[in-house]
Amino acid sequence: MKAVILISGNGSNLQSIIDNADRIDLQISCVISNNKNAFGLKRAESSKIQTYIIEPELFNSKEAFDRELISIINQDGAELIVLAGYMRVLTPVFISNYFGKILNIHPSLLPKFPGLNTHQKAIDASEKIHGASVHFVTDKLDDGPIICQESVTIEAIDTAKTLSDKVLKKEHIIFPKVIHWYTQRRLKLINNITATLDGKIL
Ligand code: GAR
Repeated sequence: MKAVILISGNGSNLQSIIDNADRIDLQISCVISNNKNAFGLKRAESSKIQTYIIEPELFNSKEAFDRELISIINQDGAELIVLAGYMRVLTPVFISNYFGKILNIHPSLLPKFPGLNTHQKAIDASEKIHGASVHFVTDKLDDGPIICQESVTIEAIDTAKTLSDKVLKKEHIIFPKVIHWYTQRRLKLINNITATLDGKIL
């Protein structure tokens, strides 16, 4: 199955998807970044994957930016949009175009800690357990039916950085796994609100 991957930064999740692409039946049509300095662009280029940079400053609205995104994605006939550390909020224009076809990974056990700085927020809240979630994207930030979560234990010595490293290791396992469910057409979003795997509600 063809997919487009959207990134904004380091791209370690992108790398784990590239490394697993054959095994999970994924063809990466292109990688698109809203940040021209994203290291993930270099990772894509090293794997001979087409890259695009869309610079937000060149657009006078979020909708105009997203329409450009849509026009690039539609060139390639991708059936899946993967948000791998994509740090821009998508507009309803974008989401309605690809409803049920957008997967996001978020570094917390949603619905806890949407938004930014999730690791520090978990430490500050004296959480004992933290983790990562993969979910279908709906029109609210870091919201949408949860597909898969993996947890890590927060130790007294953990900092936001050590916690981030632990959570990323889990992300690199669960994201390719969920994408594989999708490419096998086992994972679906039904009635716009319910994620199912093999017809069973997740
Ligand atoms: C990951 O931890 C991902 O879960 C998070 O950004 C990081 C990107 O790392 N995404 C979000 O916070 C989305 N709300 P990476 O660029 O090394 O894959």
